[in-house]
Amino acid sequence: MDATPADYDRDPSTIHIVRPQRPANATPAGSACDTFFIPMKISSITCIGAGYVGGPTMAVIADRCPHIQVTVVDANAERIAAWNNGPLPIFEPGLEAVVKRARGRNLHFSTDIDKAIANADCIFIAVNTPTKTEGEGAGKASDLRFVEACTRHIAKSARDHTLVVEKSTLPVRSAERVREVLDTAGTGKTFDVLSNPEFLAEGTAIADLENPDRVLIGCENPVAAQALVDVYAQWVPAEKILTTNVWSAEMAKLAANAMLAQRVSSINALSAFCEATGADVDEVARAIGTDSRIGGKFLKAGVGFGGSCFKKDILNLVYLCEHHGLPEVAAYWQQVVEINEWQKRRVAQTVIKNLGGTVKGKRIAVLGFAFKKDTNDTREAPSVTVCTELLAAGAELVVHDPKVSHAKILADLKDSPRAAACHYANTVADACKGADAAVVVTDWDAFRTLDWVTLAQSMQSGAWVFDARNCVDHKAVRAAGLRLWAVGKPMTS
Ligand code: NAD
Ligand code: UGA
Repeated sequence: MDATPADYDRDPSTIHIVRPQRPANATPAGSACDTFFIPMKISSITCIGAGYVGGPTMAVIADRCPHIQVTVVDANAERIAAWNNGPLPIFEPGLEAVVKRARGRNLHFSTDIDKAIANADCIFIAVNTPTKTEGEGAGKASDLRFVEACTRHIAKSARDHTLVVEKSTLPVRSAERVREVLDTAGTGKTFDVLSNPEFLAEGTAIADLENPDRVLIGCENPVAAQALVDVYAQWVPAEKILTTNVWSAEMAKLAANAMLAQRVSSINALSAFCEATGADVDEVARAIGTDSRIGGKFLKAGVGFGGSCFKKDILNLVYLCEHHGLPEVAAYWQQVVEINEWQKRRVAQTVIKNLGGTVKGKRIAVLGFAFKKDTNDTREAPSVTVCTELLAAGAELVVHDPKVSHAKILADLKDSPRAAACHYANTVADACKGADAAVVVTDWDAFRTLDWVTLAQSMQSGAWVFDARNCVDHKAVRAAGLRLWAVGKPMTS
């Protein structure tokens, strides 16, 4: 029996697709034709998770698709209140303007998760996927309990046929598990599971979302994939929207982060070699980056990569490789993390070594605490390792960051020895007053143009500047009579 329009469509205006009866002559169950040939149209989206990904991503979708109602929900009521009333819970250049344009029109933030799920044609899961701290795979595998909780919630509260989109970064083949949870809930509702990993970087999230290098959509059902393609096609050129199978999309996200982190570890490894040999890492990076096969991006030596994802995603990859009997591949990627840990400690140890082998009782200004410029995010920030090592060695720290609060810094250092010896300054000038050294840990633009002559006047005589980001004006530092160490640079430059 052929399916009739009534089988497909309970609400023709919003097209909540109901999986139709299979015609007798249809292709086998589970094939791409399973949901048949009728186009799906997404007119309401719910995103579970109002964090660094869910918030900005949905704000841009709402901004660019005024015909779609977008609701972002979160279990954290404080976070939702901040999205509704400000100040926004995360700092991202350009985010406020986008939110202001769409909020209340077709962008909504809510804690009513059930209702938002029931109202949606398409549900993004954008919750956190941290590294497991206990059980099988502890320390490496991704903890998927938040994703599972969302999936159960969706199974319970979804209304009709619903697209479930993995936006969180997940282990390869997670969609299988999501599908299983949805199907075994026994509700009789139908779902398509898609993988649409997010590639935005913090600090440039809005620009990345508005003009992405690519949008990746993994899905077995071309009709469902097309529905999501149509959303992005409102502002992303067609050639930048890639569709793949689900496993490739999940894998590509892990692979992209691993490759990016690998470049940072490679240049950081070379930075130590440059210091040992008198080469200049920025000159080396420029020279190799002009080779079009290598490319110039992500070759900035520094204090090691931070952020919530590189380390956790590589550890997840390591775990999966071990699980699939590929110990050599696992060891290869593990080394990217090891070099990163080493680089962070190396910077702290360089400070101690140059300050006469001891920092006990010395005052050190720490310039920057966020894991990179233009964000208030401190997850896995290298500053935590640097500060912890310096505190353990007896230093008195004064931290200044343009966007990270004292309370956040103290919370991040709560497990460090002598955390009480970490103070906060509202300005760089206050941080540097009486300091034996200033350590530049975050590449904030404001640090590029510091007045080192004035700063030097308030610092101890013979004070040092340690530029772990190569972002301050080295000539100006030297001209001010300060001693300088800069990552990957010869001591005489
Ligand atoms: P986040 O911690 O900032 O936000 C996650 C939010 O999900 C939190 O507000 C939390 O309260 C909420 N949440 C968790 N479980 C919930 C549940 N069951 N119901 C309702 N709300 C729930 O995390 P994030 O940085 O936005 O990252 C989310 C995912 O996106 C991760 O998988 C991450 O790897 C990936 N990702 C992050 C970035 C980034 O730049 N931060 C970029 C690309 C991909
Ligand atoms: C990174 C990826 O760039 C995003 O594509 C991805 O979506 C995201 O992770 C994620 O999955 O969470 P993010 O961590 O926000 O984005 O920021 P990056 O610009 O990648 O920087 C990561 C770290 O590497 C920072 O600490 C940064 O300072 C450092 N880095 C980056 C360097 O030290 N040198 C470089 O050349 C580039």
